[in-house]
Amino acid sequence: MSGRKTKEDILQKKEKGEKIIMLTAYDYPLGSLVDQAGVDIVLVGDSLANVVLGLERTKDVGMAEMIHHAKAVNRAVKQAMLVGDMPYEAYQENIEASVANAGRFIEEAGCQAVKLEWFDQCLSVAKKIVQAGIPVMGHVGLTPQTADRLGGLKVQGKDAQSAQQILVNAKALEAAGCFCVVLECIPTELAQMITQELSIPTIGIGAGVHCDGQVLVTHDLLGYVELFQPKFTKKYAHLDGVILTALKEYCREVKDGRFPDDDHSYHINKEQLKTVKARSL
Ligand code: KIV
Repeated sequence: MSGRKTKEDILQKKEKGEKIIMLTAYDYPLGSLVDQAGVDIVLVGDSLANVVLGLERTKDVGMAEMIHHAKAVNRAVKQAMLVGDMPYEAYQENIEASVANAGRFIEEAGCQAVKLEWFDQCLSVAKKIVQAGIPVMGHVGLTPQTADRLGGLKVQGKDAQSAQQILVNAKALEAAGCFCVVLECIPTELAQMITQELSIPTIGIGAGVHCDGQVLVTHDLLGYVELFQPKFTKKYAHLDGVILTALKEYCREVKDGRFPDDDHSYHINKEQLKTVKARSL
């Protein structure tokens, strides 16, 4: 935990013009691999809902599941900053309860920060969490938890009015004390403008190359699960095929009696076996 990157390291990256790399993880093995790959930030995203739990909407994942998975990732991450994504349910009651939920990510799950999607009371909640000493990552543009109010899971900020609003929201999050902001599914030019106007880093997903950093859902880039893939997702591997081939081979070998073979079996010494047989007569 002490060797992990901090929000100061992330802020410095923008100052030095170095790209910030973020990926999601939801369990111990993936947390360990993305950390070893050298990412700066590991996000326990509420995309857990889709890519791990098989739920349709990210809105349907709750605090219990997020904390459970964040704890597993926390056991694996050594050098990256660990960020917990506040699920929709976390900020439905009131500001005090929202701050308490943010605190659970830090105290129970070992995260260094929380991420908060834009919503009506986002600024007051973000301010209070920051005042409580918890670093907050904002999230504007396409905010999947409230996508029903944005016309669905589609590109945001394509007209002047909505683009202006996203810029205003990003600036307001900076003023509220957020240490960085995720820009999801917005035009490259708008993301570039926001990145130039903010002094805190921007981390893009479907927001073009000019952001200070990039994030993808790790299951999407690995090709681990066959779900709807937005245009911005690039598949760097096709793990689903690799895994399915291995599983089918296992099924075939068990059926044919080829697994387990001698290399994967244990033996008892002949004398000991004789004694067992004699005793059982
Ligand atoms: O939950 C998630 O995966 C996200 C993305 C921005 C990476 O919020």
